[in-house]
Amino acid sequence: MAAIRVLSLPSSLTLLASTSYSCTTKLRRTSCCSLYRLTLFSSSFYCNKRMAHSIPRATLGLTHPAQIDPLKISFAAKESDLAEWKGDILAVGVLEKDMTKDESSKFVNSILKKLDTQLGGLLAEASSEEDFTGKVGQSTILRLPGLGSKRVGLVGLGKGLPASYRSLGEAVASAAKASQASNVAIALASTDGLSAESKLSTASSIAAGMMTGTFEDTRFRSESKKPSIKSVDILGLGSGPELEKKLKYTEEVCTGVIFGKELVNAPANVLTPGVLAEEAKKIASLYSDVISATILDVEQCKELKMGSYLGVAAAASENPAHFIHLCYKPPNGTVKSKLALVGKGLTFDSGGYNIKTGPGCSIELMKFDMGGSAAVLGAAKAIGQIKPAGVEVHFIVAACENMISGTGMRPGDILTASNGKTIEVNNTDAEGRLTLADALVYACNQGVDKIIDLATLTGACVVALGPSIAGIFTPSDELAKEVVEASEIAGEKLWRLPMEESYWESMKSGVADMVNTGGRQGGSITAALFLKQFVDEKVQWLHIDMAGPVWSDKKKAATGFGVSTLVEWVVKNSSS
Ligand code: BES
Ligand code: MN
Ligand code: ZN
Repeated sequence: MAAIRVLSLPSSLTLLASTSYSCTTKLRRTSCCSLYRLTLFSSSFYCNKRMAHSIPRATLGLTHPAQIDPLKISFAAKESDLAEWKGDILAVGVLEKDMTKDESSKFVNSILKKLDTQLGGLLAEASSEEDFTGKVGQSTILRLPGLGSKRVGLVGLGKGLPASYRSLGEAVASAAKASQASNVAIALASTDGLSAESKLSTASSIAAGMMTGTFEDTRFRSESKKPSIKSVDILGLGSGPELEKKLKYTEEVCTGVIFGKELVNAPANVLTPGVLAEEAKKIASLYSDVISATILDVEQCKELKMGSYLGVAAAASENPAHFIHLCYKPPNGTVKSKLALVGKGLTFDSGGYNIKTGPGCSIELMKFDMGGSAAVLGAAKAIGQIKPAGVEVHFIVAACENMISGTGMRPGDILTASNGKTIEVNNTDAEGRLTLADALVYACNQGVDKIIDLATLTGACVVALGPSIAGIFTPSDELAKEVVEASEIAGEKLWRLPMEESYWESMKSGVADMVNTGGRQGGSITAALFLKQFVDEKVQWLHIDMAGPVWSDKKKAATGFGVSTLVEWVVKNSSS
């Protein structure tokens, strides 16, 4: 019996498109002169409530993201025979040990042996010609006659670490793209020894890789092709309702990951703080049974005394700050644990008066400085669909731009945060921690038990851990363990760094309670120590510095980092 599910992916692809279209531009003749002026008319969407939040401006540069049809991939889990499968690509995941051959150069592995026999020995021959040894990252797609499948692919799984199954899905997705395949099957050469539980997680990793690998963000291209892939058969990893449920969950997480990628990929002239807030509101209206939204404007943040956050936001009067708070409550009431996810939401970081200059400062990439908020909102989108029981989750983003203008904060200014602490700004480019300070105070005021914050906080963390590992900081060994376990399931890399209290010395100010930067040495640690000043000691808190993994230089695109780990962690804290 095959478990068939149609996974529609991603429903979020229309993201931003509708938001940007909600403002219409019209040419209007002004009375005082004969010039035509561009005037903004807000749509009814913005008019039916009090105008607490300013209207997102017409996009600078006239860029409007294209609306992309949601992609539908139908996944089926089957126990059928590989040799009988008919379609475009039959891909087999192969461990290094599966490539062992006997004295007569025949495969020892029974599945490869059977396929090879069917292909008259061509598989063994071609794989050695191609130097395919089953290492991770190796793959070879062959056009061989003699099977029901047009192409046969071998994809290396190395020693079979969990991450390699996700890569298998990604490799098949790119092979399908290259050959415009619509039907593919994926199997493993060895499944003996796999428990029922690990079969489920393996199928899930393969499907996740396939889904995120198929996604291509073409919203900002004038021309693009639709993905060809229609169906994926997962062979030999079981079938039935449990697997079906797991694949549904995987799809829900993936829509969150893809949404996160789209948010980060969108440039700062399109994704302003106001547009980010609109995207958050859309999540709340899509999952209104479980999620509600509160958006605060600058005035409301002033009432809450968020001087640290507003200090950063002060320069950007054209694209004003929006404080975003989504609240998830489980469908059937009872709440056993309350969590908060706080994300840095700098839609652009110029550095401010301490402007980012010089080679390697990456100012042109600083649209990604809202990667933490993308992870948080991506997780909200997934949680809205998964609806875990027994857990309340607050999603919090103090969104703004870090710009330069006459109204902006100066180096040396003193800001007062909402917990009353004062900060001497000795560097305007250390703005993320200033916004997070008030967001963390706000999170603690929600009466939560645990907080995770995510931020593209320091270049120093990229120097320490490189582009694919995020740093984590927490005084709680227990929370560190929980989050590391969640990240292992999610396939995201975290490494704990110390919160060395003696380094606080460098954060002392001559005039205020603290400065916001403590020099080059241990820059990620002093940043974490700064954040700690704004967290209630009774609350368990963990900080993730994701400055490295937010972006893939190789793909020139967002990674969606953080979403999967957050979702796994929330689900682990639920009672479902
Ligand atoms: N958004 C940056 C951190 C960053 C830098 C992320 C490079 C990804 C790549 C952050 O706001 C920042 O500018 N941090 C400063 C802190 C410094 C002034 C203490 C940095 O890392 O240089
Ligand atoms: Mn900065
Ligand atoms: Zn920043």
